[in-house]
Amino acid sequence: MRSSGFSLTAAAASALLCLGLASTTAEAATCDPAACVHPACVCPSLTPPKNMDPKTVPQFFTLTFDDAIQAQTVPVAESLMKSHTNPNGCPIKATWFAQTIYSDYSLIQQWYANGNEVADHTMNHIGTPPAEEIIGNLKAINAFSGIPFAKMNGFRAPFFNYSEVTFEILGQEKFLYDSSTGATPSNAYWPYTLDYGLANDCWTGICNKDIKIPGLWEVPMHAIMDSDLLDATAHSMDVQLEISSSIVADVLRKNFDRHYTGNRAPFGIFLHPVHVGNATQLYNDLFSYARSFPDVWFVTNQQLLEWMKNPVPASQMADQPYMKCTLPAVGKEICNGLDDTNSGTVDKGVLETCNFVAGPWSTCYGCPKASPTVEDPVPERVVPAGPTGARTPVPSTCAMEWWDPITAQCLCSTSNCTFTDTALTTSNTTNSSISGPSNGNTIHSSASNNKISKAAWTGFGLIAAVAAGLAQML
Ligand SMILES: *[C@@H]1O[C@H](CO)[C@@H](O)[C@H](O)[C@H]1NC(C)=O
Ligand SMILES: *[C@@H]1O[C@H](CO)[C@@H](O)[C@H](O)[C@H]1NC(C)=O
Ligand SMILES: *[C@@H]1O[C@H](CO)[C@@H](O)[C@H](O)[C@H]1NC(C)=O
Ligand SMILES: *[C@@H]1O[C@H](CO)[C@@H](O)[C@H](O)[C@H]1NC(C)=O
Ligand SMILES: *[C@@H]1O[C@H](CO)[C@@H](O)[C@H](O)[C@H]1NC(C)=O
Ligand SMILES: [Zn+2]
Repeated sequence: MRSSGFSLTAAAASALLCLGLASTTAEAATCDPAACVHPACVCPSLTPPKNMDPKTVPQFFTLTFDDAIQAQTVPVAESLMKSHTNPNGCPIKATWFAQTIYSDYSLIQQWYANGNEVADHTMNHIGTPPAEEIIGNLKAINAFSGIPFAKMNGFRAPFFNYSEVTFEILGQEKFLYDSSTGATPSNAYWPYTLDYGLANDCWTGICNKDIKIPGLWEVPMHAIMDSDLLDATAHSMDVQLEISSSIVADVLRKNFDRHYTGNRAPFGIFLHPVHVGNATQLYNDLFSYARSFPDVWFVTNQQLLEWMKNPVPASQMADQPYMKCTLPAVGKEICNGLDDTNSGTVDKGVLETCNFVAGPWSTCYGCPKASPTVEDPVPERVVPAGPTGARTPVPSTCAMEWWDPITAQCLCSTSNCTFTDTALTTSNTTNSSISGPSNGNTIHSSASNNKISKAAWTGFGLIAAVAAGLAQML
């Protein structure tokens, strides 16, 4: 095992920015390929699923953001995404591991309404979080951003600080995946399921723990290696802060090339918007470079896992329903996170602004009397259900994008709803007709809304005091 220079007692800030890079030790439990049958069970593997030839599979590119979704961070994310499309002409989408503290619930809703993924990062950005931090986050976002529970099924541990208990909670709550572990080239696995335990971050001893959660996916965070040397340092998030600006662009390209010309394991860029600073051009250049290859697809983690379950060659990606990009053609402004009237303002005149000490935020679903907390993630509304002015939560029979919470109407209850294709015309766009309502990634069916277990929420007092600035930064 080569030495990493990483120490468990390293100051939190540097620990966060730099993954432990010891190569994987022999601790990982053995996955039996004969018993582990795709797609329900997938062994950790350095090669694509179902023995596909790496040259034929898409090179996936995941872009993820962490922490608060707020007026200061959303434009940073958008500045990295707006000029890029996939080979099918669809604007690229990204995954946001969102916390509720300092977030604006209307902006969380808008991020999701546009086809991006919202995943869980605890309410208060807490390491080794109690279940209430993980589930409270989903409850608050569901209540005040309108996102169905079933659509929020990914998790990343704040500070990458998790334990076997974290995975037990994710299993109990039926999460689809975790993405908290790091991966260097020797353990740069494609996503795999935890039927036989973790195979990443084994240097922490976690692979010796009895973590066997059938069907829960691990989406490793593949590191950026700063050189080709054996003692190269692995970098995880915000690599522009750690690699000299004179070489960072070159390093990023070389790492992308290593994936593209190698086993094509998903390549990722993991950012805190508050740290992007002047690196917007750096990343835009990288994304353009990646998209100069015809078989590179930007995906959310959910889209990546759709492919893992049913892998197809790159040539068939444009036909996959989860890669389409359609928006509901509602025709009037309703509070659904979209600019339904093309006025240039999302949810113009229909948002409510809620004023709390930690900062005001807006919502389509009625201001609560108090800020959501771990003890009470969904406080009573100022205007309770019923009276004029009350906002009505999305019922399980309607997709959030079609729900008008002011008139309590679902504007798409039949199959004749109209959708607008947001794909830009490209020579490579396939011409497949659009129909709705679909179960695609953009238009969500919200049929199963009940992932959350009804555990008791009382009796814990574990919320650590969160240093406000830290929570916002990390
Ligand atoms: C992980 O989080 C727990 C709980 O917040 C904390 O006590 C512990 O020190 C953290 N560990 C590391 C390595 O940061
Ligand atoms: C960003 O700013 C830092 C600090 O001023 C500087 O060292 C770096 O070269 C800049 N990076 C880019 C890509 O302009
Ligand atoms: C479009 O398809 C052609 C082949 O039909 C290919 O050569 C080209 O690279 C593709 N362009 C993009 C942007 O995918
Ligand atoms: C769908 O069609 C039905 C009957 O043809 C009509 O009443 C309804 O308004 C239509 N719905 C939408 C959203 O266009
Ligand atoms: C897409 O297909 C439809 C039906 O076959 C056809 O009418 C339309 O012209 C096609 N559009 C493009 C851009 O090729
Ligand atoms: Zn974080």
